Amino acid sequence: MFNKETYQNRRERLAALVKDGLMLFPGNAWVPYNYPANPFHFRQDSSFLYYFGLNQAGLFGVVDADTGESYLFGDDVDMDDIIWMGPQESMRERAAKVGVANTSPLSSLQAFLQNAKGSGRKIHFLPPYRSQTTIHLADLLGLHHNEVRAAASVELIKAVVAMRSIKEPQEIVEIEKAMDIAYEMHTTSMKMAKPGVVEQEIAGHIEGIALKRGSGVSFPIILSVHGETLHNHGHANVMKDGDLMITDAGAETNMNYCSDITRTIPVNGKYSTRQREIYELVVDANVATIEAAAPGVRNIDLHLMAARIITIGLQDLGLMKGDVDEAVAAGAHALFFPHGLGHMMGLDVHDMEGLGEDYVGYDDSISRSTQFGLAFLRLAKALQTGNVFTIEPGIYFIPELIDQWKAEKKHTDFINYDKVETYKDFGGIRVEDDILITGDGFRVLGKPIPKTVAEIEAIMQR
Ligand code: GLY
Ligand code: MN
Ligand code: MN
Repeated sequence: MFNKETYQNRRERLAALVKDGLMLFPGNAWVPYNYPANPFHFRQDSSFLYYFGLNQAGLFGVVDADTGESYLFGDDVDMDDIIWMGPQESMRERAAKVGVANTSPLSSLQAFLQNAKGSGRKIHFLPPYRSQTTIHLADLLGLHHNEVRAAASVELIKAVVAMRSIKEPQEIVEIEKAMDIAYEMHTTSMKMAKPGVVEQEIAGHIEGIALKRGSGVSFPIILSVHGETLHNHGHANVMKDGDLMITDAGAETNMNYCSDITRTIPVNGKYSTRQREIYELVVDANVATIEAAAPGVRNIDLHLMAARIITIGLQDLGLMKGDVDEAVAAGAHALFFPHGLGHMMGLDVHDMEGLGEDYVGYDDSISRSTQFGLAFLRLAKALQTGNVFTIEPGIYFIPELIDQWKAEKKHTDFINYDKVETYKDFGGIRVEDDILITGDGFRVLGKPIPKTVAEIEAIMQR
C-alpha cells in the first residue's frame, strides 16, 4: 500500500468536497465459489482501496464530512482464525497503516449509523455492485434491498469520480507495473500462436504470467480467433493457418492497479494482404487518436476522428461509399466499429464504472448519444491532465449484424453490401493502448508492445 499520509490526504480532500454527513465505504467480503468455505479470489472494492488502502475482507470505512474524522469497523481474529489462517495483524495495527485511529468491531457499526441518522445526519454511500454488499447496506440502513442503489449519494459519487479520475504520480508508477506485466503477457501470446494450438493453451499461460507477477488478470482474458465477437471469453478453438487471433488482456498489480491491452495477430506469422489492409487501418485510427490526445480535447472528438479514419479507409477498400461526414454523422461506420473508443482505467479496468458510466465519462456539457455505436462510448468528456484511459478502435465483420442491416437496407448510401458479403469470414481486429494525459499532451504507458505489421511479424519469427 502507499504511505499512510496518502490515505489521510485523500480522506481529508474528500471530506472537503462533500458538504456534510457520514460517508460509508463497504469493503468487499469473501464470495463463495461452489460452497461457503471455498471462495473466489478475493478482490477488494476499489473505492475502499483508494481511501482506506487495506486489502482484507470484512471491513467498513467511514469518513465524517463535518469533522474530517475517519473510522474503521472490522473484527480482530480469534484463535480459530489463527489456527486456519495464521497470525494476523490486529485491527488497530492495520488501521494505523492507513492513518485511522478509530477502530471498532463490525457489530457496532449499525448503532453508530442509526445514531447518526437519529440526529438527522446524511449517510452517503456509493452504489453497490455485489448482492452481499447490497443486503449488508440494507440491514445497516433499514432499507429494503431494492431501495439501496437508488439511495446511493450522487454527491459522493461525483466527489469520488473527481478524485479517482486524476491519477497521482505514485498511481502512474503502479499502472506502469501493470503495463510491464501486460507486455510479457502479450509478447508471450504472440510467440505461442501457431496453427494447431488451442486458444486455451495460450490464455492459460498468459493468465499464469498475470498471477505470478501480480494479483491476476484485470478482467477475464479475451483470446480468440473470433475477434468479431467483442468480449469472447471462450477459448476452445484450434487455431488454423489463415486465422487472426485477438488477445485483449491485462493484469492487476499486487496493489490492484490495472492494464488493458489488445493486439490482433496472424496465427501463421504473416498477415495476408486483406488482413494487413484492415489491420493497418485500425493501427492508423489508434495512432492518430493517441497523438491527438491532450488536456481539453473531448474524447468524443477522438472517437469521431477514429470513425472518420475507419470510414475513409473502408471507402478506399470499396466497403463503404458516399460523403464521409454524412456517413459518420449517420453512424454507418458502426456496422464495422460498433463500440466506443475507450474508457478510464485505474484501480478498475473500466475505472469507476460501477459508480455509473455517465458520471465518469460525461458531464453537464455533453450527454450520451442514443445512436447505435456512439451510445456505447463510455468516455466522451474533455480529457484532463492525470486521466488514464484506453484508446481501442476496432474493425469487425459480424455476420449476423451484416445480415440484419442488409435486410433492413440500412445506410445503403454508405455501405457496399456486395463487397461486405465477401468479408463475412474475416473476423475482427482491435488494437488497444493505455494513455496518460500529461500537462501538455499524452504519454503511452508502458514499454511499447509490438504493434506495426513489421514488429508483429518479426516477433512471431522467434
Ligand atoms: N477489456 C475489455 C476492454 O477492452 O474494454
Ligand atoms: Mn481491453
Ligand atoms: Mn479496454
